[in-house]
Amino acid sequence: LITVREIYKKQDTLLNSQVTIGGWVRSLRDSKSFGFIVLNDGSYFETLQVVYHDTMENFSEISKLNVGAAVIVTGTLVPTPDAKQPFEIQATEVTVEGTSSSDYPLQKKRHTFEYLRTISHLRPRTNTFQAVFRVRSLIAYAIHQFFQERDFVYVHTPLITGSDCEGAGEMFQVTTMDLNNIPKTEEGTIDFSQDFFGKPTNLTVSGQLNGESYAMAFRNIYTFGPTFRAENSNTTRHAAEFWMIEPEMAFADLNDNMALAESMLKYVIRYVLEHAPEEMNFFNQFVDKDLLNRLNHVLNSDFAHVTYTEAVELLTKHNDEFDYKVFWGCDLQTEHERYLTEQLYKKPVFVTDYPKEIKAFYMKLNPDNKTVAAVDCLVPGIGEIIGGSQREDNYDKLVARMDELELNKEDYDFYLDLRKYGSARHAGFGLGFERCVMYLTGMSNIRDVVPFPRTVNNCEL
Ligand code: 4AD
Ligand code: MG
Repeated sequence: LITVREIYKKQDTLLNSQVTIGGWVRSLRDSKSFGFIVLNDGSYFETLQVVYHDTMENFSEISKLNVGAAVIVTGTLVPTPDAKQPFEIQATEVTVEGTSSSDYPLQKKRHTFEYLRTISHLRPRTNTFQAVFRVRSLIAYAIHQFFQERDFVYVHTPLITGSDCEGAGEMFQVTTMDLNNIPKTEEGTIDFSQDFFGKPTNLTVSGQLNGESYAMAFRNIYTFGPTFRAENSNTTRHAAEFWMIEPEMAFADLNDNMALAESMLKYVIRYVLEHAPEEMNFFNQFVDKDLLNRLNHVLNSDFAHVTYTEAVELLTKHNDEFDYKVFWGCDLQTEHERYLTEQLYKKPVFVTDYPKEIKAFYMKLNPDNKTVAAVDCLVPGIGEIIGGSQREDNYDKLVARMDELELNKEDYDFYLDLRKYGSARHAGFGLGFERCVMYLTGMSNIRDVVPFPRTVNNCEL
């Protein structure tokens, strides 16, 4: 079988020769002696029209096919100079692989994204989701390529852990205990010694802590895998299961971190513009009319830089426009992040040096003793896409901070070891993969860039 993509690529040599393709019926029209099938095989953005005739013995079987049926077509690829598509297949044989019943949900009309979310097993057969998930695949590849070209080692960090990297307590617990009959200790607390790992465990919220230990061996590493957060926020940018890319560099500081983040994002933008031009044009036409303009602007300018303190000063001037008023010490909300990137800077912005109280325990304390060497990268349309920091590499300072936050140091023994044995300045960040896909496609809901999304009250399929 040849694919529609290959046919488009090699059309010069394939015209007027015989081809065989397999695909699904997008639409079918028939008259007495011949009919047309519009076929999509998922390999390419374009569909291919097939003409079939009543000289075929299964003519009536073909004519009865419903949208969604799977067929294999053999025929001659002929030019169609007057039609929208440059060629079609004059079929000599159409084999029905699988019929489709008449209640096939994807009929030839526009369906809302909300509706398509209820059939996430079928939505990849629509133009929009073909484009989204092909671009998602390309972005993943581009990210690997970016880091591999720079000799970063890809580290597979565990999904089941005993620690809470972000310290936010938003974890899914992992247990094999019978929830209807939880073993109890004599004091009446849960007896985790009877659980699979003999202690409480959870799905990871971030691979960073394990990643740091590999950075202390390889210098430059990255992770790329699923992470899980039981955040009870029902928004268009939060998923319970999402993928994160977390590079970590030894002998690097916050500026090195930002330089890496900026060149990574630009690399990925350039990659998809070059490798998925049809899909990107489609998004620009049907999803977000400013997409290409915006992405090209990003490629041709430097990201903005602002400290948290400066950002708060700028934002408080506009407090009457916000639901949630800004003050020094507050966590920036999506409305503030978007105001910064969409109204004030109109491009990606690095916000640095946040108050330590609103950031994780591992971030390096700045000399002012109030802020930490943190950085968030905010982008128009989404807000935070990257969160990162330089890490606290001083053993005593890290222990002091963990004590302040009453963290159980035994859970972080290995992490403290890294500050005992050859500690070095180091920094890294986490890029939310889905938010990156949203940013590059213009899709506005995270549920529409994850094949099978998991969000609050939703774990279908
Ligand atoms: O800012 P976060 O929480 O940072 C970390 O997890 C660090 N350990 C990263 C590091 O320094 N190695 O998360 C990083 C990014 C966010 O900027 C966001 O893009 C994404 O992960 N993210 C989510 N994406 C989708 N759904 C959620 N619930 C997300 N939570 C975070
Ligand atoms: Mg963050």
